[in-house]
Amino acid sequence: MANQVFTDGPTLNDGVKMPWLGLGVWKTKEGEEVIQSVKSAIAAGYRMIDTAAIYGNEEGVGQAIRESGVSRDELFITTKVWNDDQGYEKTLQAFETSRKKLGLEVVDLYLVHWPGRDKYLETWKALIHLQKEGLVRSIGVSNFQIRHLKHIIEETGVVPVVNQVELHPLLSQKELLAYARENNIVLEAWSPLMQGNLDHPVLAQIAEKYGKTTAQVILRWDIQNGVIVIPKSIKEHRIRENANIFDFELSSEDMAAIDGLNENKRFGSNPDEFLF
Ligand SMILES: NC(=O)c1ccc[n+]([C@@H]2O[C@H](COP(=O)([O-])OP(=O)(O)OC[C@H]3O[C@@H](n4cnc5c(N)ncnc54)[C@H](OP(=O)(O)O)[C@@H]3O)[C@@H](O)[C@H]2O)c1
Repeated sequence: MANQVFTDGPTLNDGVKMPWLGLGVWKTKEGEEVIQSVKSAIAAGYRMIDTAAIYGNEEGVGQAIRESGVSRDELFITTKVWNDDQGYEKTLQAFETSRKKLGLEVVDLYLVHWPGRDKYLETWKALIHLQKEGLVRSIGVSNFQIRHLKHIIEETGVVPVVNQVELHPLLSQKELLAYARENNIVLEAWSPLMQGNLDHPVLAQIAEKYGKTTAQVILRWDIQNGVIVIPKSIKEHRIRENANIFDFELSSEDMAAIDGLNENKRFGSNPDEFLF
């Protein structure tokens, strides 16, 4: 059994429990690189992995899971349908491809990767079907703005369990977080470490006070805000460092100081501009 901190996490609106911390594998190369990083993470205690069809490394993720020595039911695996595959039928096909590459019978969480312009509702309906069929445990979305969330909920009555969005101290997503809380949706932070751009005087000062690194302080801030985190690293020492966040607590003053750093700055694409 894993150390409990790695399985601890919010109970989603469909009753499934999801860990607070997972390993992200965007830009992690298919083959040895992804196999080693996923294995290192699982050995360090991680029980959640975040991949996507577009990352091109689902086969390596699947291999690492099988070789990890940890039983499948202890792990929580997320993948996502890519933009080119949106639409009802294409999504069902894309899911089957991802499931085969991962070598899984059931995917824990399947996400609509980006809303785009006008196919996300049909794509969402395909995810509802996959969940009914028992092929995915939970279904959610990524990069959805409030209007996209309202639209799919109004049309289908099914509330996504999570919305995975860019979220970090320079983009704290306060409005989206408030809407998510009101509607029983959990936010999951992508690029939580600002893609490695961690130099910031206020964060460094807080980190020093707790004897932690800037990365650890940011990840702790997320979790204390009820936000799931999926930091990416291919380096074993950083994979361990990023998980060492369950033995301290930020004071409300320090939480507020980090909240105050918001600049609405994005390192990735803006969903309002990334249209397809
Ligand atoms: N849904 C979406 O549209 C979407 C978009 C982007 C990302 N994501 C997901 O979110 C995950 C995380 O986001 P991300 O990969 O963009 O960026 P991130 O996790 O914010 O940062 C990763 C970068 O920071 C470095 N790093 C990791 N830990 C560190 C530490 N403790 N100290 C210093 N540097 C550290 C990594 O380098 P090394 O690897 O060399 O350690 C890498 O360059 C992705 O892997 C993916 O699963 C989803």
